Amino acid sequence: MIYFKISILAVLLFLLYLLIFRYKAPWVPMYKRDLARLDQLLELKPGNNFYDLGCGNGRVIFYLAKKYPQVNFTGVEISLTLFLICCLRKFAGNYKNVKLKLFDYMLLDLNQADYIYAFANKLTIEDLARKIEKEADKNLVVLSYCFPINSWKKFLVAEENKPGEKKDLFRIYQYKKRDV
Ligand SMILES: C[S@@+](CC[C@H](N)C(=O)[O-])C[C@H]1O[C@@H](n2cnc3c(N)ncnc32)[C@H](O)[C@@H]1O
Repeated sequence: MIYFKISILAVLLFLLYLLIFRYKAPWVPMYKRDLARLDQLLELKPGNNFYDLGCGNGRVIFYLAKKYPQVNFTGVEISLTLFLICCLRKFAGNYKNVKLKLFDYMLLDLNQADYIYAFANKLTIEDLARKIEKEADKNLVVLSYCFPINSWKKFLVAEENKPGEKKDLFRIYQYKKRDV
């Protein structure tokens, strides 16, 4: 019996490791209180394509997908555990406007995107910006939670802070990538 319990614990710890630590940007979801602040920065139109790169448990895409049924949402996630959680949420909520991909977003074709949202980290967000600048041939909006894209100062249009928040921690940075 004790061996059985230890095995279960080991499996749970391994899943936790996969969930949190394994990838470049570990899984930490956006604060629920910040979802509305993100929404305020968007001007989503029917038919737009919104990508959450590293969608985690789907907190952002499912929140927005419910509000904007005419907009197409794509969640890309590299962790199998989190991807399966998103699949369950999609199934349970019968979201017709959500697509999920178990994929490395650095290898994804982003040409169809009108909006890209990412909560990555200091280095990964720069890699992502380089990829977008090289590959995306239409103007698009990029939103980064917590981490500014220092090489994209020319594209910055909003740096939204939580009202009354002194720390920079939970800013949402909005960029409009356009030909300059
Ligand atoms: C900080 S979490 C953000 C979760 C979600 N976007 C949110 O804001 O609530 C980053 C997520 O990106 C995923 N991730 C990291 N590198 C990735 C990659 N190269 N391709 C796809 N997903 C990745 C991680 O597994 C993690 O779930």
